[in-house]
Amino acid sequence: MAAKEKTLNDLFLETLKDVYYAEKQAVRQLQKAAKAAKSDELKQAFTQHREESQGQVERLDQVFEILGKPARGKTCEAIQGLNAEMAEVLEDFGDSPAADAALIGTAQAVEHYEIARYGTLKTWANQLGMTDAATLLDETLQEEKRTDELLTRIAESAANREAGEDDEDEAEKPAGRGSAASRSAKSGGRREPA
Ligand SMILES: [Fe+2]
Repeated sequence: MAAKEKTLNDLFLETLKDVYYAEKQAVRQLQKAAKAAKSDELKQAFTQHREESQGQVERLDQVFEILGKPARGKTCEAIQGLNAEMAEVLEDFGDSPAADAALIGTAQAVEHYEIARYGTLKTWANQLGMTDAATLLDETLQEEKRTDELLTRIAESAANREAGEDDEDEAEKPAGRGSAASRSAKSGGRREPA
């Protein structure tokens, strides 16, 4: 008898296992990241997302339940690579002034991976008529997107603070700390050439 042809259902299950593995790894990585972060704001962001990620694992448990399959992860080499990158970056930059920037950069790479996976899974769940699963996956997708945006805001506010300290004319500065030149440039609505 010929091997059974694989379907979108099979693909959905395999991808679910992949993200289950990735999410469990993320919980561990976020704990390390929170410990390594220098600024309180970043520490808090990582800690909060670690808690969220535990909830995300539980949502995945529910999706496995909907499928009637045991919740099981499958080694995801993409996330292993991203985690290895974080370890390397921490080794190289962990004690430098760029430590938080390095952490944000690697954490955002993980977020983007998760956003891709959850977006795809949500689409497939809808296609397969599993609307409850799609809703669960979308809740997590929105959390991942919010986390990504929060990390961008933290990175930008750090960049603005540094620009203020260095007093560079070209840099954008937060209100009240900028030079007269940059303020007038802003109020004129013009953008300084890079
Ligand atoms: Fe996640």
